Amino acid sequence: MNTKKRILTGDRPTGQLHIGHLLGALQDRVALQDEYDTFVIIADVQALTDNFKDPQKVRSNVFEVAVDNLAVGIDPDKSTIFIQSLIPEIAELTVFYSNLVTIARLERNPTVKEEIKQKKDLFGNSVTFGFLGYPVSQAADITAFQADLVPVGDDQLPQIELAREIVRKFNQIYGQTLKEPEPKIGRFPRVKGLDGNKMSKSLNNAIYLADSPEIIEKKVLSAITDTQKIRLNDKGHPNICTIYHYHEMFSVEELEIIRKECKRGDRGCVQCKKQLAQNIIEKLSPIREKRLYYQERRKLVEEILHEGTKKARQVAQATMSKVREAMKLYNINAK
Ligand code: TRP
Repeated sequence: MNTKKRILTGDRPTGQLHIGHLLGALQDRVALQDEYDTFVIIADVQALTDNFKDPQKVRSNVFEVAVDNLAVGIDPDKSTIFIQSLIPEIAELTVFYSNLVTIARLERNPTVKEEIKQKKDLFGNSVTFGFLGYPVSQAADITAFQADLVPVGDDQLPQIELAREIVRKFNQIYGQTLKEPEPKIGRFPRVKGLDGNKMSKSLNNAIYLADSPEIIEKKVLSAITDTQKIRLNDKGHPNICTIYHYHEMFSVEELEIIRKECKRGDRGCVQCKKQLAQNIIEKLSPIREKRLYYQERRKLVEEILHEGTKKARQVAQATMSKVREAMKLYNINAK
């Protein structure tokens, strides 16, 4: 019997993962997999809520996101990686939970509000039922596994809060059945992109785990720095500089010197960027190698997903049986 506490976390397969994911979530995920029984969901059903016109993109990225997770160190012997759409219990739970959440509550979700604004082209002035409701489905992802802890970026806090509300309401109406999950925010929840906005695939400002050293250097050299520092010897303002923001994460040992030199005007931006690029390349190179290893072994990755999904399904089915009992539904699988 596994007595470890459980983690459920994961990603939407809409593109390759970048250093924002690495620092905001993946590193934490890897560090916690010894202490927790970890489940990593590849949320393809959720990805379809805003990519329903492009199913091939979602399909291709299931593999890419699996490879990204394996490359950063998610160990299939310790953690369970699985595909959301192969767990029908999640869809069932979503339907049951939909009775416990009002439309007004969903419309108040600040993350979803912001996303709807960004997706005007797709949704026009009326958002789909599926997209507005994806946090309900996310609550099903989490609770199907009776997760104790959900490591996420801070934009996901409203989703976890909703999951907690659903759990409380469910337990209150149908009796104590579901576990209330806690969120866990990573050490660097808001990694900026190369243009100073939040790092995001859709803003085209990301450094990907799969980027080659040449691409990383090119991207870093093109990044916007402290706009008040024009000449090499001008005094810099590290606190408003995107490059310094990355140094904080990738150049921990040299950070004090970098900061002092920059403020004194003893440090040119080009040299500073080259140093950063080198540090990022060093950090990503083992990840990139592992990525290539798995990319060339599609069968192995599919086997890992297959096994993970099989195991995940059993856990979700056990929860489902409890849920059906609590909700007085016919439960032909009751033990
Ligand atoms: N919404 C999450 C994101 O965009 C991905 C996700 C789907 C997730 N289901 C989850 C995260 C369950 C944590 C738990 O990053």
